[in-house]
Amino acid sequence: NVDLSVTLAGMTMKNPVVVASGTFGFGREYGEFYDLSELGGICAKGLTLHRREGNPGPRIAETPMGILNSVGLQNPGVDAFIATELPFLRQYDVKVIANISGNSPEEYGVMCEKLAEAGVDMIEVNISCPNVKAGGLAYGTRPELAAEVTEVAKAHAGQVPVMVKLSPNVTDITEIARAVEGAGADALSLINTLRGMRIDVNTRRPILKMNTGGMSGPAVLPVAVRMVWEVSNAVKIPVLGMGGVSKGEDAAQMMLAGATAVAVGTACFADPYAPLKVRDGLAEIAARQGLSAVSELTGGVKPW
Ligand code: DOR
Repeated sequence: NVDLSVTLAGMTMKNPVVVASGTFGFGREYGEFYDLSELGGICAKGLTLHRREGNPGPRIAETPMGILNSVGLQNPGVDAFIATELPFLRQYDVKVIANISGNSPEEYGVMCEKLAEAGVDMIEVNISCPNVKAGGLAYGTRPELAAEVTEVAKAHAGQVPVMVKLSPNVTDITEIARAVEGAGADALSLINTLRGMRIDVNTRRPILKMNTGGMSGPAVLPVAVRMVWEVSNAVKIPVLGMGGVSKGEDAAQMMLAGATAVAVGTACFADPYAPLKVRDGLAEIAARQGLSAVSELTGGVKPW
């Protein structure tokens, strides 16, 4: 009877398992498999101020160890989310996190204001999409820009906690993490996808029309665990860990590395029940280790 609840930047969840942005749409398809109230939180597909078609295809390339995507933030826009998707998610007893990307700090501010007014539980400020030229990548790879976006988001989010999603496509992720913390972020989420490429040797063309994309899935788990560990040691604000988590043991690694909660992404495509299996596996590990709460795992990695 392990206590599964965790509190991330003041937001208490019944368990530490969140579905990662972009892997669950707005929850509708998954709601047919099980009660979404079983999850700790749902991070909605990334939103922009205006609707976007995303990038031309092919924009998904599967590999034996994960998926490359160059979707490019296809979404119906923040107003459509608030009008039709948020009310759907509100039927469930689950925390709702909105993920946002902007072309300017001002756009982030406008979206934060709308989402705070609409009553989301948390805002994930995406400064790390690898698939867009304007904004996106640039904000997440430069400490001053990352800090500026964070400040504007905080100024417009009212009481809603702001979590900033970091890019792994940097030399020193702790430098960005510190800048974002200094700008007032309430939490950090990491990692977004790791830039990669796959080539069809027969046609000699890259599989993706955009040539490169963001890698997710099992291949990135060790990179993500390392980054969660480095960032957790560099900042005081809590971390939502993600990147290749598909079972309880993966989530336990993330938490031992310092994560307060974990997100499951790519694993949802192959198995809609993956988030629940992660939750149950995590509970089993905590029980086996004689813990009374799963939150005791956080930061528990032992130094050599
Ligand atoms: O890998 C990603 N793909 N990360 C993002 O932040 C956005 C997404 C997309 O839509 O391209």
